[in-house]
Amino acid sequence: MTQGSKTSRDSFSSKFGVIAAAAGSAIGLGNIWRFPSVTAENGGAAFLFIYLLCILILGIPVMLSEFMIGRSAQRNPYGAFKKLAPRTAWYITGLMGVVAAFMILAFYAVVSGWTLEYLYQSFTGNLVDKSSGELQTMFNSFRDDSFRPLLWFFIFMGLTAWIIIAGVRSGIEKVSKVLMPLLLVMLIFIAIYALTLPGSFAGVKYLFNPDFSKITPDVIFKALGQAFFSLSIGMGTLITYGSYIKKRDNLAGTTLSVVGADTFIAILAGIAIFPAVFALTDVQLLDMAQETGEALMFITLPSILNNVPGGQILSAMFFILLAVAALTSTISMLEVIVAFLTEEFNISRRKATISSAIAVSVLGVLSVLFVGVFRFLNFSSVNILLPLGGLLIVLFVGWYLSRKFTIDELSNDGKLSSKYIPVFLFLVKYIAPIAIAMVFIYGIINAVRA
Ligand code: PHE
Repeated sequence: MTQGSKTSRDSFSSKFGVIAAAAGSAIGLGNIWRFPSVTAENGGAAFLFIYLLCILILGIPVMLSEFMIGRSAQRNPYGAFKKLAPRTAWYITGLMGVVAAFMILAFYAVVSGWTLEYLYQSFTGNLVDKSSGELQTMFNSFRDDSFRPLLWFFIFMGLTAWIIIAGVRSGIEKVSKVLMPLLLVMLIFIAIYALTLPGSFAGVKYLFNPDFSKITPDVIFKALGQAFFSLSIGMGTLITYGSYIKKRDNLAGTTLSVVGADTFIAILAGIAIFPAVFALTDVQLLDMAQETGEALMFITLPSILNNVPGGQILSAMFFILLAVAALTSTISMLEVIVAFLTEEFNISRRKATISSAIAVSVLGVLSVLFVGVFRFLNFSSVNILLPLGGLLIVLFVGWYLSRKFTIDELSNDGKLSSKYIPVFLFLVKYIAPIAIAMVFIYGIINAVRA
């Protein structure tokens, strides 16, 4: 185990770099693929309302806590808890994060691979002029084939590893600074386009006009899971990124920018997708609710794009967007594992990256081959590991760390305003733990019953 601070520790070079990298982690398939479909499945605007509440009172405090833990410890999640809480069992929280990163990456990179297949299919014109039935068959046979999904999975893992080997500043930061603005521009373009389609208003209404009778405990459980997943919190990704943030940066400001960007992109993705679906398909509310996430991205959308002028270009653009969003997220997951290995076992970055990418790939191959593995990884990480991690993180900041420690760390030793800190502490001490625990227990009971 390494001791003391390493003078050579890599870090982000600028404020924009920090925000681009952290927003890059947060903005991903979770926003563009998962958010619209989970929202559709759970009642549209009513779900959005609960989701926003989760972001505000749980997401922000957890994210700020993670950044604070990481920056003050200057370590990977495991090392950070060891350093801040020596001779306690808190390090288990960090280890859980590393395990969660491993599990999420293994199924996430599979779906990321699908986006490359569809990007390829858009370029070759194979999606054009197909009925939705044909597109459905195409998607099913692609998935059942195994070879192509595996190939794209390996390509995606390779790309991820390549960026990670390049380092924090010359890999993660550099890539995020270029790709994130690109993503924003493409998504705005697609959203505006979708809004100009006749009949698009029904989709906007479904997204923004809540029917509060649709709110059930299950909806709340799903909204919390989605909020944690979308913000990349509860597993140490942002502890890791926080450890690369300079002492002079304002952590609260960074948190608000990242949360704001993530939420904005999720809603923008909703604006791009709902109107298009409502305008151009005969899908009615009910059918829409039955659409699974996969069908929405890989069947419904391509079939919509067949019917609009410039559809082929739009679909290529859409799948580039998905792939870009996914890549800046997979690098953040791999970085958690690599930071852990390099710091705790003193191995080189290159070796750590290659060996962890290989290990993740073994699990990834299993989730390509067995849908059960894919579902298990997806469910257990999103609905169990992330909320549990988030709960432990807020308990750690609220009850283990001293008030003075938090105030010093968040105000950069008195240089920044600390007016909001009592509110933050109240949230992490009482509100967040109780709310997360309640939702979490409900979810577990339900899962066991089912
Ligand atoms: N937040 C990412 C997304 O929305 C997924 C993610 C989860 C990334 C956990 C890192 C850690 O797609």
